[in-house]
Amino acid sequence: MTFLFNSDARRGAIFAEAFAKELPDVPFTMDAATVDPDAVRYLIAWTAPEDLARYRNLEILFSIGAGADQFHLDTVPEQVKIVRTIEAGIVRMMQEYVTLAVLALHRNLPAYLAQQRAGQWRDITQLQAGSRRIGVLGLGQLGQAVLDRLKPFGFPLAGWSRSPRQIEGVSCHHGELGLKEMLAASDILVCLLPLTRDTRGFLDADLFAKLRKGAALVHTGRGPQLDHEALVAALDHGHLSAAMIDVTDPEPLPVGHPFWRHPKIILTPHVASVTQPATAARAVIENIRRHRAGLDPIGLVDRSRGY
Ligand code: NDP
Ligand code: OXD
Repeated sequence: MTFLFNSDARRGAIFAEAFAKELPDVPFTMDAATVDPDAVRYLIAWTAPEDLARYRNLEILFSIGAGADQFHLDTVPEQVKIVRTIEAGIVRMMQEYVTLAVLALHRNLPAYLAQQRAGQWRDITQLQAGSRRIGVLGLGQLGQAVLDRLKPFGFPLAGWSRSPRQIEGVSCHHGELGLKEMLAASDILVCLLPLTRDTRGFLDADLFAKLRKGAALVHTGRGPQLDHEALVAALDHGHLSAAMIDVTDPEPLPVGHPFWRHPKIILTPHVASVTQPATAARAVIENIRRHRAGLDPIGLVDRSRGY
């Protein structure tokens, strides 16, 4: 019952050490070329290997990240559980990134950077936190953690999910109508939705039109959720004021793409969260223990929902 680690060697070495200590009865390898494919019961990777079918006894395909859309779920054999990695490092880094983005947009950083480049010393009227409404699309592990971290600043907080949720201090919305209500009441919209057939192209011209004039966007979900042209148009027409974008389609963006130099866009190269190997190895080991005990692993992907 071998564990095959199919990602970078630096993180692999830390996983290997944790497995040797915590799960010594599960052989660990990073060598797909020499492993006996029939022995592989667990495989971790960012994208599924093209020859996935050769692992005929595979029980769990782990994503080394928090998302699993990059696996193309319907190409993974039905009996294989797909499990994403939810670990303390990913959660903490997403909290940091979204807090950074929300504060940057709240305090008009893109406009001040543009003024600096133009040699202008001019203050912009500052809205107070109690009047800056934050709306988060997606109330899962990361959406909830981010909202929790934003609470002390005093922003009015709202969130939107597929099913109804109750979160203390957060005005929760769901469904079509709930989305409309939340968009109309959001000054900074944060996208933390998984990529599914329902969320592909979700951040489009229609959605931007439902936000109030001057609203801003933070996008840390997945690139294909965002219509790039619609965002640029909404920024250029002044309907949206600014955006901080971590994920794009494609990644990296091609040379000359308007996001690179747009004065109202702050762009980062898909770094909001990066899996931290020590804590991730612990989470994966715990999930193997759960699986062996007949329990569902944490982060088990529901194929019918697509996340
Ligand atoms: P979860 O699966 O825990 O939560 C997903 C949330 O989105 C749930 O609240 C779910 O609703 C909601 N949702 C899903 N589909 C819809 C829909 N069609 N309409 C309304 N709500 C919907 O995911 P996480 O919070 O762990 O992660 C979210 C995403 O963040 C990941 O899938 C990944 O794409 C992205 N990510 C980005 C990173 C980066 O570095 N930029 C790093 C890590 C993750 P419900 O509660 O009803 O199920
Ligand atoms: C992830 C990511 O899913 O890095 O963890 O986007």
